[in-house]
Amino acid sequence: MPNIQVTDLSGKVSTLKAKSGETLMEALRDNGYSDIEAVCGGVCSCSTCHVYLEGDWFSKLGERSEDENQLVTSTDHFKPNSRLSCQVTVSDDMEGMVVTIAHQTY
Ligand code: FES
Repeated sequence: MPNIQVTDLSGKVSTLKAKSGETLMEALRDNGYSDIEAVCGGVCSCSTCHVYLEGDWFSKLGERSEDENQLVTSTDHFKPNSRLSCQVTVSDDMEGMVVTIAHQTY
């Protein structure tokens, strides 16, 4: 159960206790982070689970899939460290990961 530091859209920083094996989107959505809309439910077709992985966490997690890349790079708020959180599976080695929720666009 890694502790993940999350900054929401209001700038509030909090600690999310995520479960290994769930997606980062599920962890955020199911723990009250209402900035994450997750309209498509996690099938990589809406981009309303957009987050930024801070520091070296983006490179630690490896490349986006082609589908995720296509979707997230087309959002208004895309940055090089953007990920769709439904495409990130939580694991114990994510202890201390730092995530910022992005403005969600369709
Ligand atoms: S929840 Fe729709 S793309 Fe992630």
